[in-house]
Amino acid sequence: MKRRKFIKKSGLGASSIFAGSSVVSFLAACGKGHMMDKMNMGGQPVSVKEGNFNRLLPIPTTVTGNATLTAQATTATINGNNIQVLGYQAKGLLGPTIRVNSNVNASINFQNNLSEKSNIHWHGLKIPAKMDGHPEDVVNPGNSFNYQFNVNQRAGLSWYHPHPDRATARQAFQGLAGLFLINDAEEAALNLPSGIYEIPLVIQDKRFSSSGITYSPSMGEVMSGYMGETITVNGEVSPFAEVTTRFYRLRMLNGSNARIYNLALSNNADLIIIGNDGGLLKNPSNVKNILLAPGERLDVLVNFAGLTAGTEVFLESKVFNNAGSAQGKQGFKILKFKITQTVSDSFTAPASLSSFNTVAPSSSSKTRNFIINAMQMSGGMNMTGMHRINGKTYEKNRIDELVAANTTEIWVFDNSQGDEPHPMHLHGVHFQVWERSGGRGQLIPSESGWKDTVLVMPGEIVKIIIPFSTLTGVFVFHCHNLEHEDDGMMLQYQLT
Ligand code: C2O
Ligand code: CU
Ligand code: CU
Repeated sequence: MKRRKFIKKSGLGASSIFAGSSVVSFLAACGKGHMMDKMNMGGQPVSVKEGNFNRLLPIPTTVTGNATLTAQATTATINGNNIQVLGYQAKGLLGPTIRVNSNVNASINFQNNLSEKSNIHWHGLKIPAKMDGHPEDVVNPGNSFNYQFNVNQRAGLSWYHPHPDRATARQAFQGLAGLFLINDAEEAALNLPSGIYEIPLVIQDKRFSSSGITYSPSMGEVMSGYMGETITVNGEVSPFAEVTTRFYRLRMLNGSNARIYNLALSNNADLIIIGNDGGLLKNPSNVKNILLAPGERLDVLVNFAGLTAGTEVFLESKVFNNAGSAQGKQGFKILKFKITQTVSDSFTAPASLSSFNTVAPSSSSKTRNFIINAMQMSGGMNMTGMHRINGKTYEKNRIDELVAANTTEIWVFDNSQGDEPHPMHLHGVHFQVWERSGGRGQLIPSESGWKDTVLVMPGEIVKIIIPFSTLTGVFVFHCHNLEHEDDGMMLQYQLT
């Protein structure tokens, strides 16, 4: 229910609800207006300060599926400053891009040289539960774990990040993330722009201090999610890329903890959406702008043909509506493309990209409903547990949903009474988005293929269709606003 309604219905005065001292100081920190106005529990926007776009876009190094990732505290040069970060390699804000062909066996040795527990979750990979980086499957400081799995899925852009219970958001924000690219024959046959014409873009907002990356969410920032005032791409602040007058393929990940982007090009050129979380769409779709929520990926063709050398085009985020009190209020530039040279290019975007079945809702054997707006205030409000799914927060000893292997289900995420956006993510599966009612009231072009994360805006009810595999075991599903996740907005399903 809406918070204001809840407070009315609870029959409690505001003072008795807000008895916790952290809440009092949170409200005091707001320092403006009437009591009810101070209860902007959706949090405040963090405004973005654009950089100079004069540093070259770094491209993460690429490794095979036989790699070692060493989580460590290290120093990275960002915006010309030496900054303390967490990395999966020395001097790295982001880990290397793991690039494999479909059906290879990957063997990735994770060495934890942090001073705390960590693990790796392979976001987007359909792999056995034991290899998935469940929040309780952690690796102690100084120890290692060998992640071994077969990459049994189609081409697409996945990614990896830590997933220890209640530390995911901080570890990811301070630098631990990387891309996992899968190629296959269907994709190769399309002859899409490749090599230097295929550019990975990890878009993240960070909060820098002179020495490091600050992670200390206030209560309001647990509500809204933790946002940074600095936008980085591939770990550099406001960078530029040099391009020529031809097609490029941009492989984008929103690796931010909470910030949603409404991506567009400053010259109003089309973004040709060819893929998403789970790989290529059936057909491309041309848009002027598109939302990308934390955890989601986009595969996009852009065409710089016809522009003259010296032209600058920005990838930017435009303002957007109805995303709660903290998101979408500001437009800003993310990355500069500098046109350096005129070339000829005979590439045209293929009319058809991939073939796969659309799963019929009639094939579902069960529907599960999840209310994702609940905020419980019973027993005084704490710094945790404000975000819930069906009234519950994550409990490691409780299995919330038992799912039969090899069946298809419809899951419904109901944010109709909520006032914050929630990008909902399931481990262990890819799903199709069937329907959205309320809010935007329709699917967006990037939701037409296979997904693992779907944005549910305030007021929306989103139905997804999930064909479950035979990879039995315990998996989590959660909001990919990582502050919400660490706040407990995560449940477990067991595939049996
Ligand atoms: Cu990208 Cu459970 O996470
Ligand atoms: Cu995941
Ligand atoms: Cu959320």
